[in-house]
Amino acid sequence: MTESDFERYLKKLKLRESDLRGKRLVDCGCGYGAFVKTCLDIGLTDSVYGIDEYLETMPGYEDHFKTGDFFDPLPWDKLDYIFFVRSLFYDCFNEKQFAKLIGQLLERLKPAGEIRISPVEHLVGNSTSREVICAIVGVLDSYPCNYTLTPLPTPSERRTEKLLIIGRI
Ligand SMILES: C[S@@+](CC[C@H](N)C(=O)[O-])C[C@H]1O[C@@H](n2cnc3c(N)ncnc32)[C@H](O)[C@@H]1O
Repeated sequence: MTESDFERYLKKLKLRESDLRGKRLVDCGCGYGAFVKTCLDIGLTDSVYGIDEYLETMPGYEDHFKTGDFFDPLPWDKLDYIFFVRSLFYDCFNEKQFAKLIGQLLERLKPAGEIRISPVEHLVGNSTSREVICAIVGVLDSYPCNYTLTPLPTPSERRTEKLLIIGRI
């Protein structure tokens, strides 16, 4: 049995379908948009959007996608969730850019809204995990937010993956 992109997202984000019902959410680095399209197709929510630097044309779904850089301010606000699934790579930006990104994203959330980054190891890239986690924690401590790092079940015992949840307070 092959896992659908939608099921993979739920697993990586540690959410159930019911957590997303009627919610307003953005998938940053949405790839070809399968998660957003499934949320729409199964009637989970109408307020679901995807952004990616490289988007294919999506007939019938144009209002839900934007071609662009998620380091720029998002064109959507009052969000319940902002997701990054395999799309943030720490080697591609520095601490200052990460701090700016988090500040911008927190402004786009509803009170008690969340940013979920999964797996956070993608954020780490080739840098050492400890160094980057310290940098992330340093950035998050400077904002009015809470955060948790949760281990994810992984296919291999030798590889660990974690989900970073940042909540607006
Ligand atoms: C490995 S793919 C993951 C796609 C999807 N999230 C998934 O899990 O199937 C990473 C995606 O992030 C996008 N991406 C990376 N950096 C980005 C940025 N700064 N702004 C917008 N999209 C970005 C890439 O174009 C690519 O489509």
